[in-house]
Amino acid sequence: MITLHDLKQIALITDIPIMSDETIETISKEISIHHCFTLLEIGTAIGYSSLSLAHLHPHLNITTLEKDEDRHFEALKYKQQLDVRNQVSMICQDAFEYVPKHLMDCIILDGAKASNQRFFQRYFPFLKTSGVMIIDNIDFHGVREQDINHRSRQFRKMIHKLSAFEEWIMSQNHINVEKINVGDGLLKITHKHHDESFYGKI
Ligand SMILES: C[S@@+](CC[C@H](N)C(=O)[O-])C[C@H]1O[C@@H](n2cnc3c(N)ncnc32)[C@H](O)[C@@H]1O
Repeated sequence: MITLHDLKQIALITDIPIMSDETIETISKEISIHHCFTLLEIGTAIGYSSLSLAHLHPHLNITTLEKDEDRHFEALKYKQQLDVRNQVSMICQDAFEYVPKHLMDCIILDGAKASNQRFFQRYFPFLKTSGVMIIDNIDFHGVREQDINHRSRQFRKMIHKLSAFEEWIMSQNHINVEKINVGDGLLKITHKHHDESFYGKI
């Protein structure tokens, strides 16, 4: 019988990127603060983050999307052993084709980093007004634009897109955006609520 610890080791040995323990811990706190019952994750990989969060939150229903078939089927294999309460639905589909059936309490964007802005624009409308969106790896292992001249063109493009996305999201005044310095950097995004007591006085 496999454990979550074994799954983490498999990901590390086979070079599959997964969330750090402190990232999972931080997301777990947000799930509690926002009383989340439904969670959508973009980027299952082999299921480490979704199966870990399901284990920590017995009442959480998780839908997770993965476009790579091999990873999806490997994740399903681990789900059979680790998802004892059947909380996690693993879907093999590109996140740009999937349409959620209802609004979500929590949405995690952990797919291709260069696509963050498009993921955000597609999925933020599916976040409940009380919900929280988390975007992982916003600092991509601490790599800075000035340090990447020797890297491949594709890598430089991805780092550039990540910084451009951070600048763009920080300029969006209709939402709350908070940067959290854990793991490779997280963005926490929530709806901005109108101050109803203020409007009531007009
Ligand atoms: C960083 S890994 C996810 C790690 C996982 N959340 C964990 O911590 O265990 C990113 C995954 O997103 C998948 N991905 C990238 N773009 C995607 C898309 N448009 N739709 C669905 N999956 C995508 C990749 O194939 C990859 O397996």
